[in-house]
Amino acid sequence: MDVFALPAEVRERTSALRRAGSRVAFVPTMGALHAGHGSLFDVARRHADCVIASIFVNPTQFGPAEDFDRYPRPFAADAAFCAAAGVDILFCPRREDMYAPEHSILVVEGALTRGLCGPFRPGHFRGVLTVVTQLLNIVQPDVAVFGQKDAQQARLIQTLVRDLHMHTRVLVAPTWRDPDGLAMSSRNQYLSSDERRHALALSQALQLGETLYAQGVRDAAQVCARMHAVCATAGAAAVIEYVEAVDFATLRPVVELVDGTLLAVCVRIGRTRLIDNVVLGRARVAREYDLV
Ligand code: PAF
Repeated sequence: MDVFALPAEVRERTSALRRAGSRVAFVPTMGALHAGHGSLFDVARRHADCVIASIFVNPTQFGPAEDFDRYPRPFAADAAFCAAAGVDILFCPRREDMYAPEHSILVVEGALTRGLCGPFRPGHFRGVLTVVTQLLNIVQPDVAVFGQKDAQQARLIQTLVRDLHMHTRVLVAPTWRDPDGLAMSSRNQYLSSDERRHALALSQALQLGETLYAQGVRDAAQVCARMHAVCATAGAAAVIEYVEAVDFATLRPVVELVDGTLLAVCVRIGRTRLIDNVVLGRARVAREYDLV
């Protein structure tokens, strides 16, 4: 595995690969890698000849009171993880290589960011879209893979690529879960054992939503209320930010559940903000949304 820090080196290498006829897949990450990232690398491998990963803890997507400083950065373990997962090229830029001191262009989205995490994390998606635009411009991959756990982010990036006429196809890979259902996240390591137990309320709420849908319940408000009640079992230290049913395409709330409705929850447990979601009828809408 080759490791690069400079954008120009990566761009040169990936251009050469493409000229030689190789398909390039890209998995951007912020490190603290776990099996969920491993599954993204596997999807990337299935769609390309060469897999590139990046590790960059992007400062512009963290709010002032968020966890930028304490975000885990186990670089040696992450590099070993990538090598073992068959990543061909690892790109680890320094902050100054991504953001020149006079950096002044930001990517702002005006519709899909209005709901879900948008109002709770002002500026977050502007930071994500800005850095992902930079990374896609540097790597210029044929395919980029994002996890469904961050469904709003994944949908925004699909829209970014469409609206800015980028060359990359954005695939959304399934959420990877611990055996008890907890969606894998680098932030799970912040949870105490009690908090981790309480965190299961998120996946249990979503499972209930899926079950009700399978039983024919279509009323979004009714299903969200039942899911909210399950989230509320996460204990006194839990704050529910949202329990929503939205259309996966527009991320706007729906009245009636259909295939392609995203059920999404966000609960803060202690100091840790957890999100999770499911797409109803995922297999039936997979092709429409590049869900793999
Ligand atoms: O999902 C993440 O890890 C980050 O938001 C991303 C896409 C790598 C951008 O910094």
